[in-house]
Amino acid sequence: MNWETLPNHDVLSDRAAEIFLEAILRVLGLPTGRTPVRMYERVVAACGRAYHCFRDVVTFNLDEYVGIERTYPGSYYTFMKRHLFDFVDINPANAHLPNGAAADVEAECTRYERDIAAARGLDLTLLGLGSNGHIAFNEPGTPFDSRTRAVALTESTRAANAALFGEDVPTHAITMGIATILESKSIVLLASGDKKRQAIEHLRSGEITEEFPASALWKHPDVTVLVA
Ligand code: GLP
Repeated sequence: MNWETLPNHDVLSDRAAEIFLEAILRVLGLPTGRTPVRMYERVVAACGRAYHCFRDVVTFNLDEYVGIERTYPGSYYTFMKRHLFDFVDINPANAHLPNGAAADVEAECTRYERDIAAARGLDLTLLGLGSNGHIAFNEPGTPFDSRTRAVALTESTRAANAALFGEDVPTHAITMGIATILESKSIVLLASGDKKRQAIEHLRSGEITEEFPASALWKHPDVTVLVA
């Protein structure tokens, strides 16, 4: 039994309302990539529009490419529409992705952080894993106190994500920072397949280093890693 002693009935009521609202208002951090595709299929199958699963849900995607319109086939916005948003009753105003085509990318990153804060922070964030240990687009060497910002993609990450771009793979992306992700109340990381084996073993080793971004998750009290 966890006990919280509050100074008076009003503060007690604030706290009770907070617990109440946390149970019904969910703010989710969402990933893209090949790994979560089948998870989205199952979510859509379980929560077709009729079930109103997403009526009160707010989502923030982890990242988006810089310099492409959101309607471009390779954009993460298009990915999310194709795999989730078009099939559930989410209010489009509640489905957030960074705007990679923003004229002022820095202002866009600040706005994104502000929007997450205005939604009272992320409750649950789902993550994929890059084979070099990146989470979202936080590449090796990213400070653990990083926040949403524009980053240059490594050649290996560009190659891994080239399929939808042909010759013109974007060079930059906007990504939530590691600190942004770690502020999520709980985190679930998904990793599957031989290409992730080495990264999973590195994560499992427990060594915490900025050279391996996913290792920051060891600093968080509520992380679940799903491996297959
Ligand atoms: C991209 C995304 C990451 C994702 C990673 C792994 O770099 N920005 O968020 O986790 O790819 O993708 P996949 O699941 O396709 O291996």
